[in-house]
Amino acid sequence: MKNQAYSHGMTPDLTHDEAAREHAVRAMRFHLYSQVSQGTRGYFTNVVAPEFEKANGRALKDRQEVRKVMEERPYVQLHLSLQRSVQEVMWNTVVENIERQLPELNARAKNYGQGLGSLTLDEKLEIPRYVANVDIHCMPGGYGYDAGMPDSVAAGAIYDRGISMYQRGAEGNLGLSVLAYLQRNFPNLKPTQILDLGCTVGMSTQRYCEAFPDAEIHAIDVAAPCLRYGHARAESLGKRIHFSQQNAEHTNFGDNTFDVVFSTILAHETSTTAWQNILTESHRVLKPGGVMVHADLPQFADIDVYSQFLFGNETRYNNEPFWSTFRAMDLKAAMEAAGFAPDQCFVDLAPMADRETGFTNTKVTAAARTRGGSSAPGFGWGVQVGIKSS
Ligand SMILES: C[S@@+](CC[C@H](N)C(=O)[O-])C[C@H]1O[C@@H](n2cnc3c(N)ncnc32)[C@H](O)[C@@H]1O
Repeated sequence: MKNQAYSHGMTPDLTHDEAAREHAVRAMRFHLYSQVSQGTRGYFTNVVAPEFEKANGRALKDRQEVRKVMEERPYVQLHLSLQRSVQEVMWNTVVENIERQLPELNARAKNYGQGLGSLTLDEKLEIPRYVANVDIHCMPGGYGYDAGMPDSVAAGAIYDRGISMYQRGAEGNLGLSVLAYLQRNFPNLKPTQILDLGCTVGMSTQRYCEAFPDAEIHAIDVAAPCLRYGHARAESLGKRIHFSQQNAEHTNFGDNTFDVVFSTILAHETSTTAWQNILTESHRVLKPGGVMVHADLPQFADIDVYSQFLFGNETRYNNEPFWSTFRAMDLKAAMEAAGFAPDQCFVDLAPMADRETGFTNTKVTAAARTRGGSSAPGFGWGVQVGIKSS
């Protein structure tokens, strides 16, 4: 059975039962992250926070205090444990589906060969500990998982299917959001050389390719199974992207090469040292006048204290070790330390775009906020923006 919602040349096959299971997991996730989540927020606002205020004569002051009072409540314990269980069920559902057809998927990817774009792997690349040693967001085996097979696309296929369940058919929206931001704030920029750091299977890279069809687009990642899958996926979609296995902390690109350097949800999966290195590397490879846009979820300072508690659950219960540390980093200082002039770098919020309407859509524009700060959870992406001085 073909997956209708999200289809390309590498789309794994789904039996009737697997499709039914995927639908059930999607529905469970949706219910949890909409209905149950709203319920828990209401419970906090209407019951837990007022009770604390009454007993202590003051409001809850930070996310640690919120956690303490929330985790004592059986309702919250149930909610959080359901979230963790559904996450595990989701990955198990995907892994079983991919593993049963992995030899065929590996062969399919190999058949795409070098075509419009290219794939360059480096067997000797040392994989950073923050990638190699973590089953990030509970994804079994992490980004390097190859199921013990040569030429494996395992982690790429697993990630692709997992994201399709996470985002319910909204794959690539993050790339659209970043493009919307770039278009609104740098309307005259016509990049001819683009670099995407931590591309995984190229969902966002694909969007850059569609927006700038004449640009030369490079996409790097440390994970070979993701790059093999991403390359084949891009070829099947007719996208010219040059994938290479490189560490974004130290790439082999020359100084002053790119007009734009992007990354999407890479930052929170690295480390304090690595992220500083990646900012420095972004600055080095940018041309003078070039623009860096790194997108992730917003910093703690941009969201309310309850959302901070929710975000923090990713570190505690979803194998995201750097998630909370990253949210509290002084990113402006880090960009300056990377070489960006103080008046040429800032942290901002970018509205979320959606695939159906595209990045020029009025809904996106209407939702736009620049250099503001939002207290609405899930409203937008946090972006780190730097312009290299000429
Ligand atoms: C959450 S995924 C990024 C998703 C992707 N940008 C998208 O929009 O679909 C993070 C990716 O960053 C990669 N990664 C982590 N650290 C890296 C590094 N130092 N250099 C290159 N890639 C890295 C991981 O292997 C993983 O594929």
